[in-house]
Amino acid sequence: VKALDLISRYRTVRQRSVSLCAPLTIEDHAIQSMPDASPAKWHLAHTTWFYETFVLAELGQAPHDERWSYAFNSYYDAVGPRVERARRGLMSRPSLEEVLAYRAAVDERVARALDHALAPALQALVELGLHHEQQHQELLLTDIKHALGTQPLRPAYRDDLVRDGAAAIAPLAWVELDEEVVEIGAGDRGFAFDNERPRHRVIVPAFAIATRPIANAEVLAFIGDGGYDEPRHWLAEGFATARRDGWRAPLYWEQRDGVWCAYDLAGVREIDPAETACHLSYFEADAIARWAGARLPTEAEWERVASGLRARAGHWADDDRLHPRAATTTGLAQVFGDVWEWTASAYVPYPGFRPLPGALGEYNGKFMSGQMVLRGGSCLTPRGHVRASYRNFFAPTARWQMTGVRLATDRGSPPW
Ligand SMILES: [Fe+2]
Repeated sequence: VKALDLISRYRTVRQRSVSLCAPLTIEDHAIQSMPDASPAKWHLAHTTWFYETFVLAELGQAPHDERWSYAFNSYYDAVGPRVERARRGLMSRPSLEEVLAYRAAVDERVARALDHALAPALQALVELGLHHEQQHQELLLTDIKHALGTQPLRPAYRDDLVRDGAAAIAPLAWVELDEEVVEIGAGDRGFAFDNERPRHRVIVPAFAIATRPIANAEVLAFIGDGGYDEPRHWLAEGFATARRDGWRAPLYWEQRDGVWCAYDLAGVREIDPAETACHLSYFEADAIARWAGARLPTEAEWERVASGLRARAGHWADDDRLHPRAATTTGLAQVFGDVWEWTASAYVPYPGFRPLPGALGEYNGKFMSGQMVLRGGSCLTPRGHVRASYRNFFAPTARWQMTGVRLATDRGSPPW
């Protein structure tokens, strides 16, 4: 039953990657708008390479094409050399058609292996491959958004995405918690990435956390208050980056005839002040928090709040809006979904962290420097992919992910 379940999940996840590319032209599939973003065609091939390299090769199966490991290995030094990341968009070959044939060939081989009582350790690697592919499905959307949203015509990714009228935003309120020793991280059972383990105790002093992420209205107030020009709100590296790169507003915002508009996957439209704000870097999140008289939550604070929730309520990619909604309900809202929330925590190993054995030890562990932890998933994340213990991570300058801000304070004096 478990193997059957894995086959059906495998088919569903694999099909979804192809479906996400259906609105794209052939040319859209191949372009790379910056070194951080990969072409859609590359995502389709790389996610396939993952099963070929970590499952099928273990079964002694030869690769579909031995030259393609060089083209579609992402960052695994133990597997071998690879094309430089910034040059992924220069590969017009293999063609999209060849990449889709590659997917079909590997899918057939994985399905056959699962049919023949695949060893539990290899089943676990197929499962890892599914979670890996779901991560790439979100990247595929953020990367195509960047490619389309930074070219002159600002083409929509899809013309059928619904954009409802302005909603009434819930007032920002605070939930206060007393000091407590809490357990965070994933337990031994069930799937989790290695960076979520081991589960361990942390002292969390008394704090207050905002009931919802900040909305565009608050970002507009920050801009109107000269927030981007006021160095005392900013970390030094953040202020220097904002100056160098000309940050005056979140990514994708532009003024048209004096009106703030933003590109999203449905095209350009006027900013809705009630919608949860997105495409902010850690540095902007931190500056906005300081401007507001608050700070960002630590990942232990965030997880303590999230693990107490009964449901992972919030909006996911499955809701098919592909943009955050306004938080309209009182009480804790959008802890999960809508936007990944920057935390004040550096992405470092938990005490007792053990990376996966072999080449897969490179999956998470080697990136534990110079990045910050994000929590909760977003409106571009597949439903069910994220847990309370899930640790995402990006550089503090990254803005093209679906990232937002939830405020926290030390107990006693919430600012609003
Ligand atoms: Fe990957």
